[in-house]
Amino acid sequence: MGGVSPLLSSCSSSSFLTSSHVVTMMMMRRSVKNAKNISTTSSSSAHGDNNSSTQTTIYKRRDRLAQIKANDHGKSKVGKTLELKGWVRSNRAQKDRAFIDLNDGSDMSGMQMVVLQEHVDESVWQLVAGATSEVSTGASIRVKGKVVESPGGKQSVEVLVDELEIIGKADPATYPLQKKRHTLEYLRGIAHLRPRTNTIAAVSRVRNQLAFATHQFFQQNGFLYVNTPIITASDCEGAGEQFQVTCLLNGLEEEGSAGAAASVAPQDVEKVEQKVKSQGDIVKKTKADKGEGNATKEDVDREVKKLLELKEELTELQSGSNTPQTSVKELPKLKSGGVDYEQDFFAKRSYLTVSGQLNGEIMASAVNDIYTFGPTFRAENSNTSRHLAEFWMVEPELAFADLNDDMDCAEAYLKHCITHVLKHCDEDLQFFEKNISKDNLRERLQNVVDQDFARITYTEAVEHVLSAKKKFEFPIQWGSDLQSEHERYISEEVYKDRPVIVRDYPKDIKAFYMRANDDGKTVAAMDVLVPKVGELMGGSQREERLDVLEKKIEEVGLEKESYWWYLELRKYGSVPHSGFGLGFERLVQYVTGVENIRDVIAFPRYPGSADF
Ligand code: 4AD
Ligand code: MG
Repeated sequence: MGGVSPLLSSCSSSSFLTSSHVVTMMMMRRSVKNAKNISTTSSSSAHGDNNSSTQTTIYKRRDRLAQIKANDHGKSKVGKTLELKGWVRSNRAQKDRAFIDLNDGSDMSGMQMVVLQEHVDESVWQLVAGATSEVSTGASIRVKGKVVESPGGKQSVEVLVDELEIIGKADPATYPLQKKRHTLEYLRGIAHLRPRTNTIAAVSRVRNQLAFATHQFFQQNGFLYVNTPIITASDCEGAGEQFQVTCLLNGLEEEGSAGAAASVAPQDVEKVEQKVKSQGDIVKKTKADKGEGNATKEDVDREVKKLLELKEELTELQSGSNTPQTSVKELPKLKSGGVDYEQDFFAKRSYLTVSGQLNGEIMASAVNDIYTFGPTFRAENSNTSRHLAEFWMVEPELAFADLNDDMDCAEAYLKHCITHVLKHCDEDLQFFEKNISKDNLRERLQNVVDQDFARITYTEAVEHVLSAKKKFEFPIQWGSDLQSEHERYISEEVYKDRPVIVRDYPKDIKAFYMRANDDGKTVAAMDVLVPKVGELMGGSQREERLDVLEKKIEEVGLEKESYWWYLELRKYGSVPHSGFGLGFERLVQYVTGVENIRDVIAFPRYPGSADF
C-alpha cells in the first residue's frame, strides 16, 4: 500500500449531531450556575410538586470546525468572530503574513488561519513567524478571529486571526509525524500519534458513524440493546480459540533467595551473545531509518536501551554471577494431576468471550429481538489482514425468526450502514477513494445499496469455485470450508462486486447450535460475503428442538452439564430464533477500502502486539 500523508486536508459530524444530540436536555437537580457554557432555566415539576423545582439545563459544547462549516462550507459564519482550538497541521510563514492549517479532528480539511503582521500584536507575529516560531506542526493552539471569505479557491472561508495562544508546543526536531507521507506500517508503531493523521482520523470518524448507524438501525426496528459478559465459561463457537482468564498465576512467580545462583551453561552465554549481535543490527537499522524519517528518536533510544540491557545481561553471565533464580510456586493440583480450577477466581475454567450469542439467545427468549455490540476475543494465531485477537462484533438475535428473516435483517442492516456513511462521510470517503482504495469506492458502495444481495447455497458456491477458470491456493470439495480466496472470487468475480449470502453449510464445519436441515447433511447457516473482505457476517437459525440439540451436543463431545441453562431455553417456551455476528472492523475495512484490519481500530491487538 502506498504512503499516506498525515498532514493534508470528512466526515461531517454535523450529521451525527442532529439538533437533538447537540443540545442535550438534561434534567438536573444540582446547581450548574458556575459551569462554563452551560445555561440553566428553572421550571416547576410537571407533577405540580411545588417543593421540588427542576432545572432544565441546556448543555452546549464549543462548535467544532465540521459544525461551523456544515451545510454551506461556513459561508453563513462570515463576519462572525470565533474562538477555535486544535492542532497545527502546517504553518507557511511569508514576509508579512502566515497561513496556518488548523485541524480539530472533526473533519478532514480543517480551516485556514491567516495571520497578518500588521493586524496582530508583535508578540503574536513572533510566535507565528519568528526565528523560533512555536506554531509548528503538531502544536496545539487557541485562535480567536473573524471568519472571512477566502480569496483562494481551495476553501470557501478562512479566519483572520486577532489572537493566538500556544496551548502545547511540539518540538519540530523530534515530532514523529513529518510532512512527508508515512507508511501505515510505520504509523502502527506510533499509535499514540497516528490518530492525528488524515487516514486514521478519517477511519475513526467513519467508524463512529457506522456505530451510530448500527444503533439507529436496530433501535428503529425495535431491537433491545443488551450487554453480554466479557468473561465466560462456555465456548460458543467450539473452535477452542479462547484466551483463558485465571488468577491462579497471580503472585506465582516470586524472586527466590539471593545467592541461589545457578551455574551458567555455555550455551546460555552463546544465546545472549547472539541476541546482542541481532540487537546491534536492529539499532543500526533504526538509526538508518531515522535518517530517512521512518523512525523517531524515541525508536532509536528504545532499541539502544534494549541493547544495553542485553550487554549487561551478557556481562553478568560471563562473570558467572547470574541474576537471582525465579522460583515457581506450585499451581493447585487435582489428585489426577490436572489444575484445580475450583480454587480459581470463578471456581471454574473461564475465558474471554468469543461471541455474545449464547447470552443473546437468553435475552431474545425473554424480551424478543435484541442486539449486542461489544468486544470479542480470539486467540487464533493468524497474522492475516482480516484477523484481530480483539475485535468488536455486532450480534442481533431475532425471536420467532427463521433463516430467511435472518438474511433479510443482515441485508437491510448493511444497506442502512452504507446509506448512512454515504450521506454523512462524503469528505472522508472521497479521501479514501483518492488515496487508499484508488477506485470508484463510493460508486461501489452505492451499488450495494441499490441491488439485492445474491443468495445461494453452499453447494452452489462450491460448484462456482470448482468450475472457475482461475487457480486457487486451496483446493475445495463439498464438505470443506470456503477459504477467503474462494469467498472473494464468488462475490468479486461471479457476482461482479455484489454481496453474496451463502446458506446451508455442511453440518460438520459449523458450530453445534445451528439448526439441522431436513437433508441430514446441512445446517441453516448463512455467511455474508463481500468483495475485498470475504466473510463479513456469519449467522444461523438456532436449533430450538431440545432432543435434536441434546443429541448434537453429545455428538460433538461437549459437556452437556455445562450447557444446562442453554438446553432449558429449549425446554421452556422455546421459539424458532436466528441471529448473526458482524465483524465491525471488517465493516470499516469494507466501507473505507483500508486493506489491513490493524489500521481500522485505534489500538489493534494481534499476536505479539498489545502495546498502547
Ligand atoms: O462467524 P463468526 O465466528 O460467528 C459467530 O461468532 C457467531 N456466534 C455470531 C452469531 O451468530 N451471533 O464471527 C462473526 C463475524 C465474522 O463473520 C467476521 O466478520 C468476524 O466476526 N470475525 C473476526 N473479525 C476480526 N478478527 C477475527 N479474528 C474475527 N473472527 C471473526
Ligand atoms: Mg464465521
